[in-house]
Amino acid sequence: MAEKEYTETSEAQIAVHWGEEGYYMPSVKFIAQANMTDESIYDRFSMDNFPDCFKEYADLLDWYKYWDEILDTSDAPCYKWFKGGLLNVSYNCIDRHLAGNSNKTAIHFVPELEEEKIEHVTYRELWVRVNEMAAVLLDFCGLKTGDRVTLHLPMLPDLPVTMLACARLGIIHSQVFGGFSGSACGDRITDSGSSVLITMDAYYRGGKLLNHKQKADEAVGIAEKHGQKVDKVLIWQRYPGKYSASTPMVEGRDFFVNEVIKDYYGARVEPVKMPAEAPLFLMYTSGTTGKPKGCQHDTGGYLACVTATSKYVQDIHPEDVYWCMADIGWITGHSYIVYGPLSICASTVIYEGIPTYPDAGRCWRIAQDLGVNIFHTAPTAIRAFRKTGPEEPAKYNYEFKHMTTVGEPIEPEVWKWYYEVVGKGKAVIVDTWWQTETGGFLCSTIPAIKPMKPGSAGPGMPGIHCIIYDDKGNEVPPGKGIAGNLCIRNPWPGMFQTIWGDRDRFVRQYFEKYCKDSSSKDWRDWPYLTGDAAMMAEDGYVRILGRIDDVINVSGHRLGTKELESAALVVEEVAEAAVVPIRHDIKGVEPDIYVALKPGYEPSEEIAQKVNAALVREIGPIAKARKVWIVPDMPKTRSGKIMRRVLAAISNKSDVGDTMTLANPEVVEDIKKMVEN
Ligand code: PRX
Repeated sequence: MAEKEYTETSEAQIAVHWGEEGYYMPSVKFIAQANMTDESIYDRFSMDNFPDCFKEYADLLDWYKYWDEILDTSDAPCYKWFKGGLLNVSYNCIDRHLAGNSNKTAIHFVPELEEEKIEHVTYRELWVRVNEMAAVLLDFCGLKTGDRVTLHLPMLPDLPVTMLACARLGIIHSQVFGGFSGSACGDRITDSGSSVLITMDAYYRGGKLLNHKQKADEAVGIAEKHGQKVDKVLIWQRYPGKYSASTPMVEGRDFFVNEVIKDYYGARVEPVKMPAEAPLFLMYTSGTTGKPKGCQHDTGGYLACVTATSKYVQDIHPEDVYWCMADIGWITGHSYIVYGPLSICASTVIYEGIPTYPDAGRCWRIAQDLGVNIFHTAPTAIRAFRKTGPEEPAKYNYEFKHMTTVGEPIEPEVWKWYYEVVGKGKAVIVDTWWQTETGGFLCSTIPAIKPMKPGSAGPGMPGIHCIIYDDKGNEVPPGKGIAGNLCIRNPWPGMFQTIWGDRDRFVRQYFEKYCKDSSSKDWRDWPYLTGDAAMMAEDGYVRILGRIDDVINVSGHRLGTKELESAALVVEEVAEAAVVPIRHDIKGVEPDIYVALKPGYEPSEEIAQKVNAALVREIGPIAKARKVWIVPDMPKTRSGKIMRRVLAAISNKSDVGDTMTLANPEVVEDIKKMVEN
């Protein structure tokens, strides 16, 4: 891809460049109880000890058989960690805890409606449910190790039960965020080649019971149109025994899990001894093209990574109550609601609904009632709490020892509010930077060892060697105050193995830019390009500035601008579309969409509404544009490329820069007038 286009919609260009902040120290009380206080961990995980150091992570797991080779690079940059090792993720997350912790709560499920009872699922109960669901997958669905299954489930315990049942059998799950549309789900069913879809009839959001089943019909229709037949749709019921959606069931295709599973009550399914390098799940994410890509995560490396980071960064102990407010439909939920916490026998909270429903005190009531002491959320939610209920945390009697922020840059001012008001000045904060692709945290402080710095994610995790390159491939040294492209010099357990079915795209997008020898089998030749712009301070702390590619981060939800543009092009009248991120107080950024119409059509409010409806239909409500601007023409380069940078500047009311080299500079003035009015 041409350099120019690559950087055109850069969020970094419009990111707030706040200054370096001072350190905050963790409390003595926190340090005294922390899981990791040994500073030598950074030496143990130094480059000299790579890759053997990661045995320390893998030793947190139970293996049926140890590996023969810690890191196989023979197919670089597609790596195999712990090659030859055998283990099972469901065994590690459940069975191994039964001897000592059978009656411990694994999952606290909090329904959105406050009048509904909180459900506490013990490890024993989780084991029973997972075994029975595994029997359904195996016997009723006829699925086997290596098959893919698409899940489109909301935030209920049935989701981790289904994931763990898949993991028990080595079936590769692909969970699609529940808020995504049926159409988005259908595309992911097709790409993954799933013949079974597992979904739910309904769930609560903002006090309304939403019909979720209707999305399944749409998803199956889209998949079939693209040649992927779905034989069975399994539907969990929000209220077992009762169907809560109005959409009819399709005879012979749709089945209620709650009914089918009755035939398997008491069933026990032996965990399959899976090779460490076998895929565990796919997680689709947005990139530089319209088509989402399935990040393929492995079994051994991934579980080792999320187990160790849950223990050392999240600092979870057996007696803690841990609440990560993300959605399990995203990587954060996979790694830090389900797999990491359960692997270390934690009690993890799953909340069904909106954090501020029915009022801004809801979260703090949940924290108080369940005794939550580790809290994990995103800057978007923190900004919303600060805006809608700044006095609320003080009204409730909870005490956090530890808090996480993840998913977007956090403004130091917001960080300080989180620290003082939500954490009541007592909790440590970790700002964890990572990605769907990376499986687990890449940059963060280890909370009892490194001090916090507002607005900085912290140094590379032990064993993660960050480097910042300029566009020509020269290293930008720390402390220079210069931003560049953040890369990781080495592979690590937890890193995705490839893009499902598209190794070329994997290599092109993440490695090509800085690889000096594409035939090399040495990992040193394959730095990983993260797609984020960043600055490294003198102390090695990394400050993330935002994406350098066509990805925008709306409320912490990652969306591809091309994905939104292709959705808009579905509207008959639209000839061209360009999406740009605009700054928003709470969401971080939100999309503005510019469209030009085909000849013969006049701009109208109706067309603008059709464009937004298409974004919601094709992707989901999170993709809705703040504004649809119907423009006479797009600003273009002489070679015909749409100048998104110019449009972004107009939307953000900043300087559009020099436009004289454009093919049609006059249109910029017209668009400016339109937007300013
Ligand atoms: O731009 C970075 C931003 O989120 C992107 C990854 O999004 P996703 O794959 O959806 O994963 C979300 C869960 C980590 C990154 O490329 N990002 C993530 N964490 C941070 C962040 N930006 C700033 N600070 C963070 N802590």
